[in-house]
Formats: sequence, structure tokens, C-alpha cells
Amino acid sequence: MHPKKSTPIRVPTNRARMGRTMIQLKTAQDIALIREAGDILYKAIEAVRKSMVEGVTTRELDRILKNEIVKRGGRPAFLGYQGYPASLCISVNEEVIHGIPGNRKLENGDIVGLDVGVVFRERIADAAVTVGLGNVSAADRLLVRTTEECLAKALAVVRAGNRVRDISAAVYGHARSMGFEVVREYCGHGVGFSLHEDPQIYNYPAPGPNPKLRAGMVVAVEPMINAGTWKIKVLDDDWTVVTADGSKSAHFEHTVAVTEGEPEILTRW
Ligand code: MF3
Ligand code: CO
Repeated sequence: MHPKKSTPIRVPTNRARMGRTMIQLKTAQDIALIREAGDILYKAIEAVRKSMVEGVTTRELDRILKNEIVKRGGRPAFLGYQGYPASLCISVNEEVIHGIPGNRKLENGDIVGLDVGVVFRERIADAAVTVGLGNVSAADRLLVRTTEECLAKALAVVRAGNRVRDISAAVYGHARSMGFEVVREYCGHGVGFSLHEDPQIYNYPAPGPNPKLRAGMVVAVEPMINAGTWKIKVLDDDWTVVTADGSKSAHFEHTVAVTEGEPEILTRW
């Protein structure tokens, strides 16, 4: 199940890359297994959310997450992926994605992105949520709510016959209408046999391939929305993506199966 023979070996996670698309369709049986991975993922994220109190370290949350995944028969998809050192990506405040768990303690008012991948019987689900801790400012709540709405609006156009850029336009249109900016250097992606498959799903109407959605595709749709500039930088740890201007950022992600009708969310909560 290595679909990406035609793409470079060292794709830096979900960073945008160019090239022709090769989309692998999933059978009903594949989708059933991805759904099981998604179910483990959901339960593991719930356990992390319950443990999110002021003063907890991000490393402790990573430990809890890994334990919850493993005890349900899953495997953390991120651990070891391209050398990533943890099971959880935890991105606080101005961190956009790929924050590495460590000694950082969560504080009252933080907005915290939790991004998780689970492998179950060789099938993979990927999802993210941003949650506030304690008294979150009205401005930050609006950013988080809008990002979740961007995901909902994107999922509403995930159906056979539409195209990938319809998803991009749905996210971008809503974010911009609310005055927020959209991260451009990272994107959503096909998922299921590998963590990152074709097609790439930008959150803005980028040029490039614009394949039609077909029943049997499974995609991870993941708006990354910034309160300030859309520009990002990567910290010296080579992973943590932060906003270039230090403004806050939020991230939501679901793994969904394309059908002829409503998309099926495989990582539902
Ligand atoms: N969750 C990211 C994505 O949605 C990937 C995490 S990269 C990893 O594509 F290295 F942490 F696994
Ligand atoms: Co993803």
C-alpha cells in the first residue's frame, strides 16, 4: 500500500508540493477500517481534552494520547513519521501546526490545537481540533469558531462531481469574509493508506491540479486560519509552524469519505 511512488520520498509532511496527482480510491472495507481508526482517534482526543487543565505539560498530554491509542489496538500515525518525535501535534496560540510536545505548560486562555493520526490495520485516519482553556478572549473564540465553520462549509461541498478547488474556495471565502487569513504553505490531503496521499487540498484557490471528487476518495480537510498575516515560519526545531507576526492561529481537520451524496465523516465527534 505505497501509493506515492511517483512523488518525492521526503515530502515534508503536508507541505505543498507540485506534481501530477495519483488518487487511490478506497473500497467499502478500507473505509470501514479507516472509520475504526477514526473511532480510536476520537476517543483518544476526548481523553486528552479531559486532561487539559492549567499547568499540564504538553508532554504529559502526548503520553496520555499515545496510551489511549495503543490500548485500543491502534498505533500513533505521526510517531516516527519523517522523524517526528511524538504521537500528538500540539500547537498553542501563535503555533499553527506541528507543535512538538515538551515542557510547555498550558495556561488559562490558551487556544490549543490537537492534531492526531491513528493507524488501525494499515489504514489511517487524521483529525484535528482547536480547544480553548479557561477564559479565552472573545477575539480568540471568534477565530476558533470561524475555523470550525470553515471546516463545516468545506465538508458541505465534498461530494462526487465537485472538484478539489470547491473545497478550497469554501474555506477561503468564509475565512476572508470574517477578516481572517488563510495559511498557504500547508494543505489538506488524501489519506487512508498513507498519511499524506494525493490530492493536495489547499485552503485557498491555488493554481495547479483540480481533480474531480469521486465516490471512494478519502480526504483530510484541514483549514488553518490566522488572525493576522497568512505568512508562517518554521522554528529551529524544524517542525513547529508559527504565524510570522505572532498572531493566533486555529486548525480543525476531519477525515471524510466522498460519496454520491453527503460525505461521511470518519473521525466524528
Ligand atoms: N497532522 C498533519 C496533517 O494533517 C501531519 C502531521 S505531520 C507529523 O497532515 F509528522 F507530525 F506526522
Ligand atoms: Co492532515
